[in-house]
Amino acid sequence: MKKALVCGAGGFIGGHLVKKLKKEGYWIRGVDIKEHELAPSQADSFLLLDLRRPENCGRALMFIKIWRRQRTYMGMVERADTL
Ligand SMILES: NC(=O)c1ccc[n+]([C@@H]2O[C@H](COP(=O)([O-])OP(=O)(O)OC[C@H]3O[C@@H](n4cnc5c(N)ncnc54)[C@H](O)[C@@H]3O)[C@@H](O)[C@H]2O)c1
Repeated sequence: MKKALVCGAGGFIGGHLVKKLKKEGYWIRGVDIKEHELAPSQADSFLLLDLRRPENCGRALMFIKIWRRQRTYMGMVERADTL
């Protein structure tokens, strides 16, 4: 599954981007310093973080590292199956 990080997902453009990417089948992590004002975010994961802080940028991107590890593990299992 394709994954996307939408920064400012609680805002005007970010909120619309989350909806568009959901329709295209993405798994989405939304990040904002505040909740969306009009409706709950449609993001699969929504973190309230201040992205001015470097450590929060790392937290926002953590799912990519986990996903890569899962893919690496799955790749190893696939290779083991073909031996
Ligand atoms: N109804 C409308 O037509 C409408 C409504 C809103 C905005 N607009 C237009 O849209 C444009 C602006 O939209 P936008 O989406 O760029 O702005 P926005 O302010 O709606 O979204 C920016 C988002 O970034 C977040 N953000 C800011 N600093 C952050 C930080 N340090 N860490 C995490 N999140 C942070 C804000 O909380 C906000 O939710 C303008 O041109 C405005 O006129 C139109």
